[in-house]
Amino acid sequence: MDTHAALAEIEQEMEVDAALPLRPANLVFGEGNVECAVMFIGEAPGANEDRLKRPFVGRGGRLLDDMIRGLGWKREDVYITNIVKRRPPENRDPLPGEIAAYKPYLTRQIDAIGPKLIVTLGRFAMNYFLPDAKMTRDHGRALLVGGRTVFPVYHPAAALRSAEMMKVLREDFGKIPDVLSGRMAAEPPPAVMPKVTAPPFGGPKKGGKGTAGAPSGLF
Ligand code: URA
Repeated sequence: MDTHAALAEIEQEMEVDAALPLRPANLVFGEGNVECAVMFIGEAPGANEDRLKRPFVGRGGRLLDDMIRGLGWKREDVYITNIVKRRPPENRDPLPGEIAAYKPYLTRQIDAIGPKLIVTLGRFAMNYFLPDAKMTRDHGRALLVGGRTVFPVYHPAAALRSAEMMKVLREDFGKIPDVLSGRMAAEPPPAVMPKVTAPPFGGPKKGGKGTAGAPSGLF
C-alpha cells in the first residue's frame, strides 16, 4: 500500500474509533509531504487547529513556518502532526491516558511516513519518545530512539512568551541540517536514573535516629 493510502486508512479508522478520548472535538490528523525526511510532532491541537482541522495554524504555527523557511524549506516540504489529535478542553495539558489512547495511531503514522528525523516541539512530545529527558538539558540534542533520530526543541508557543527561549529555539533549528546530514551524530538517549525503591543499605533500625523528615520512599 502506498503512503497516502496507508495514512488515509489510519485517519479513517481514527474518525470512527468511538473509544478515542476528546471527542467531539475535530480530528486534526496531520499534513504535509508524506515523503518527507523530517516530521515535526507537537502536543495537541488548539482552538485554531480544531476549527481548521490543520496542525499548527495559529501564532505558534506561524513561528514554526518561519523557522522552517529559515532552513530554506517550505512548510509543505515537511510533515506536521501532534501526539494527541483532538483539542483538550481549554487547551489544558493532555492527560497520560489521552496520550496513550492516540499512541497506536501515531506509531502507525510515523511508520507509514518513515522520516529520517523527528523534531519534537515541546515537553510533551519530547517525553512521549524520551520519558526521562529534560527540556533544559536535552533540547537541541540528536537522540536515538528505537532506531530513529529524535531532536527535541522548545515549543513555539513557549518561544513566543520568552525572548531567551526564542533565541534557543532558533539556535536549535539551525542544527537541523547537520543532524539530517549526519554531521551531528545522534547519541544514545539520556541514562535512566534508577528509582530508589528499596533502602540501599537495609535502612535504619526501628526507633533509630536520623530519619525524621527524610523523604518517604527512601527508607
Ligand atoms: N500546539 C501544538 O502543540 N500543536 C498544534 O497543532 C498547535 C499548537
